[in-house]
Amino acid sequence: MEFSVTHQAIDLYSGDCAVVFVFKDQVQQNTDLQDLLTLNNFDSKVANTLVLSRVKSYKTSRLIVVGVGELPLSGKNYVKSMLSLASALETAKVINVMLPSIDVDGKDELWVQQITARVLQNASYQVDKHGIEKENNNTLASVSVYSALKDNTALNQGLAIANGMALTRELGDMPPNICTPSYLAETAQSLAKNYGLECEILDEDGMEGLGMNSLLSVGKGSSEPSKLISLSYKNAGDDQPIVLVGKGVTFDSGGISLKAGAGMDEMKYDMCGAASVLGTMRAVAEMELPINLTVVVPTVENMPAHNASKPGDVVKSMSGQTIEILNTDAEGRLILCDALTYCEKFNPSVVIDVATLTGAVIIALGKHHSGVMSNDQALADDLKEAGNTALDTVWQLPLDDEYDELLKSNFADMANIGGREAGTVTAACFLSRFTKDYRWAHLDIAGTAWDSGLKKGATGRPVPLLTQYVINQT
Ligand code: BES
Ligand code: MN
Ligand code: ZN
Repeated sequence: MEFSVTHQAIDLYSGDCAVVFVFKDQVQQNTDLQDLLTLNNFDSKVANTLVLSRVKSYKTSRLIVVGVGELPLSGKNYVKSMLSLASALETAKVINVMLPSIDVDGKDELWVQQITARVLQNASYQVDKHGIEKENNNTLASVSVYSALKDNTALNQGLAIANGMALTRELGDMPPNICTPSYLAETAQSLAKNYGLECEILDEDGMEGLGMNSLLSVGKGSSEPSKLISLSYKNAGDDQPIVLVGKGVTFDSGGISLKAGAGMDEMKYDMCGAASVLGTMRAVAEMELPINLTVVVPTVENMPAHNASKPGDVVKSMSGQTIEILNTDAEGRLILCDALTYCEKFNPSVVIDVATLTGAVIIALGKHHSGVMSNDQALADDLKEAGNTALDTVWQLPLDDEYDELLKSNFADMANIGGREAGTVTAACFLSRFTKDYRWAHLDIAGTAWDSGLKKGATGRPVPLLTQYVINQT
């Protein structure tokens, strides 16, 4: 899909479709259009649409009328309108469309353009049904947006974010027999090739040499070899990089602490943290942002086997701290802790890890906000702000010392679980023991990375949040 700004008046647009936004109680200056709206009893509530043909004084043959409700129009409601516009465009098999400019409450024109391109492009994502021929319903080829601005930067940023989200969604939706740790490593290598990035893949021997016994303990019961991926984009000289770390458990059976059967297929999504940092890398590289960004992906498959980790096992992490594994299903923190220690070598400005870490965050926050926890309030605030801008929001949870005490072990420096209470916070407390040397935040995306039920599928979150955070640092 191609996005561009146009200075042309919308009634002169000669593509096959133009959009008209209608607020509640708003009367159209074009009386033919107003008559048709009245005739069709058009209700201008948010996200209602109506297709009209051959409206007088419009050059284009079709109009799609989109309701935007009462003034002022909120960012969320604008997104809702764009989503229903996307499905109306698909149904009407539109090839070229033009949108007028529109005021969104508290947002500038660049925001509107970015979100428009992002939402329309993201709506065209189609899941790959492996082995089944794809039927392509997307006819939309070009989107023009009325603007006095001269360049397409904001539109292209929205497109790049959607392209990053598409990579994240593809990887998440992929069956776990295809999307293995080795597959994620190959994906990183092809990103490196396409965008001129530096890529390093450590295999199990390499990790053993660094003392990453905690990470390695998780993949022991799997026949898929574990990997540690790092991918660096350098476009800001010697600046310290932003480092993003993504949990890449390509399937989480729970291991010996085996999960219950119902819905276990969804544990293929336990690599969505990894997928989202790779998607963010794609978006940032595509935008050619002047920044240094490194992504680190510890990736494993968590399986039960005769040689798998057992409850009671004690492992020594790369940091030297020992861990008593009381539950092999609390595996995310075991791979992240070694990856977080590894990050020190990049001399990061900040480290943000992204993980489908706890079921408890879904109980606490549902599927709307991701959880954020941080050892640096300014960083947590920056992430909140980026999330609010991108409409990919986070909610902060505490990290007090009292919670950390729940990780006490009689047999090692810490246990890998803290008990039933505050499961999301104790998981973050565990990670915080490995992040003392830099500014760090943790995003728990277990509730936001994918949808279940009839809409089952990866969402592409939190690529918009992370990309906006990176943009805000330039
Ligand atoms: N990947 C899961 C977390 C998860 C569960 C994400 C359900 C999305 C939906 C993680 O590895 C896990 O199993 N966490 C345990 C931790 C517990 C054993 C302390 C959990 O949340 O139950
Ligand atoms: Mn688990
Ligand atoms: Zn997991």
